[in-house]
Amino acid sequence: MDIFTQAQAAFDRHVAKFRDASGTLPFALEAKFKHTGEVCEITEKIVAGEARFSPHDTLIFRLCALFHDISRFEQYDKFRTFLDRVSFDHGDRSAALIDELGLVPELPAEDRACVIDAVRVHNKFAIPADFPSAHLDAAKMVRDADKLAILRLIIRFFSGDYSDPTIRLDLPDTPGWTPSILETALSGKCVVYTDMKCINDFKLGLFAWSCDLNYPASAALALDEDLFGRIRALLPESDKIDSLLKSARIRLAALRDSNPSLRQNP
Ligand SMILES: [Fe+2]
Repeated sequence: MDIFTQAQAAFDRHVAKFRDASGTLPFALEAKFKHTGEVCEITEKIVAGEARFSPHDTLIFRLCALFHDISRFEQYDKFRTFLDRVSFDHGDRSAALIDELGLVPELPAEDRACVIDAVRVHNKFAIPADFPSAHLDAAKMVRDADKLAILRLIIRFFSGDYSDPTIRLDLPDTPGWTPSILETALSGKCVVYTDMKCINDFKLGLFAWSCDLNYPASAALALDEDLFGRIRALLPESDKIDSLLKSARIRLAALRDSNPSLRQNP
């Protein structure tokens, strides 16, 4: 069995602790389980578009994807929420669990440290300035793949596939939006979760992620799947929101085209 297959089996054994007698996960955890699979799948897609990575790099990236949210299961089990501010920082806790659960013991120490570091920062506002440079590629990869998978999840969720308030981050689904949130989004800045007053504010805040992707192949995937266009379609009519989408698309196209092999002909 290769290292990733062993890691996946260990991950599945951990998740099994949260299944009921019939093998079913609570709805919110099933969504997280699927999210992990999607982050793994997206990681492979990004790697395929970025020719510079070796099979060894790819293994590290896939392990980061597999373990990035491993603490979500105990977070929901103990606190019935995915809100870090009322439970624990799930990036820190996922990183700690890799050691606590003795995951991938066969992985060399340096590779293990890389996975743990990348998992720790996957959910932070930014990668810390003193982050080890040898681990940066992995951290950037898991942050990109996670964002793209979350965008897919949100699109599915608001298109009617889900109704669990835990995934809605407990914001009310009221009409309209908060003007200051739209202005922040238009200026290309990050919207702070605690400033959001409704679901539409949350959707507007997602556009900042178009500034925070690292790899040209990540931008290509966002454009190919029209992730931001589909988020925009979930918001009310507004010229300003149209401008927000236009800026996001221009930004993403510039990042994608910075890799000559991904560049689209005009
Ligand atoms: Fe996460």
